Amino acid sequence: MSTKATSAFQWTPKAQVIAKEAGARLREFFEQGVETEYKGDVDLVTVADRTVEKLIHTRLKEVFPEHGIYGEEGTREGLERAYRWYVDPLDGTTNFAHGFPQFCVSMGLEHRPPGTAPEQDGTLVAAVIYDPMRDELFTAERGQGAWLNGKPIHVSATQVLGESLVSTGFPSRKRHASPNIHFYQEFTLRSHGVRRAGSAALDLAFVASGRLEAFWEFNLNPWDTTAGVLLVEEAGGSVTDFTGGTFALDSHEILASNGHIHGELTALFDDMFAGRNLEPIPTPAEYAAQRAAREASK
Ligand code: IPD
Ligand code: CA
Ligand code: CA
Repeated sequence: MSTKATSAFQWTPKAQVIAKEAGARLREFFEQGVETEYKGDVDLVTVADRTVEKLIHTRLKEVFPEHGIYGEEGTREGLERAYRWYVDPLDGTTNFAHGFPQFCVSMGLEHRPPGTAPEQDGTLVAAVIYDPMRDELFTAERGQGAWLNGKPIHVSATQVLGESLVSTGFPSRKRHASPNIHFYQEFTLRSHGVRRAGSAALDLAFVASGRLEAFWEFNLNPWDTTAGVLLVEEAGGSVTDFTGGTFALDSHEILASNGHIHGELTALFDDMFAGRNLEPIPTPAEYAAQRAAREASK
């Protein structure tokens, strides 16, 4: 299997050291167990989220003093600078808090040349996602491909949704405003299955490494998506909004796939938003009536 000398890369060699140190801290907290607090609704936070964001902030300042940092737990530093790290110190907090071993550290670097308007996206240039439970390090730099523990990765070659394994996630705030359960149902009926594993960054890394054919979600934040988006693109996949239009960091819609099934996915989103071609399933009341009829006829 071919590998690439780390010296060919500009940012990931230093960033991956930070992500691995951060991941090791997460693993320690995971093993010892932590108290959970509520940020709102069922949006959980733990001492691990805050401690590890501080650690990453400190380390990034040491190795990239000229870069800005935007972290989920409140870090906002140097946002006028030409490079900005989006940091999710613990993606998958709900899993973490329940002892469910699916979570990661996610760090994505955006280049924002002088003159980039505040509402405009720059270019994603580097990505590091580290899963400390599997010791899996996903890295990418623009134009250099995507890598898992130093070996190149590529999206899957699957050509149709009907032969695909896909994934999604659900918000932990304003849950009643999300229509995603309808999409979950429709994708379940049209694919090999839908996984809801609880870490958007790992979902994207899994699309990049061919373990999943696609991932979609409503209302994610840049710290969830930045690294994973670059990984999928560098692994040969596609990332858009639900209409197939350009993905923007604040677009609140992400559809990532191996590229081959992307047209089929956007057509399904079109149909669903228009209320067309939906697969019927019984309501619970209809199911109960069918069950009662079966019992009565025995
Ligand atoms: C969450 C995870 C989850 C996704 C949620 C995110 P957090 O991030 O990525 O998979 O469904 O929308 O908020 O809160 O664990 O960092
Ligand atoms: Ca997250
Ligand atoms: Ca988080």
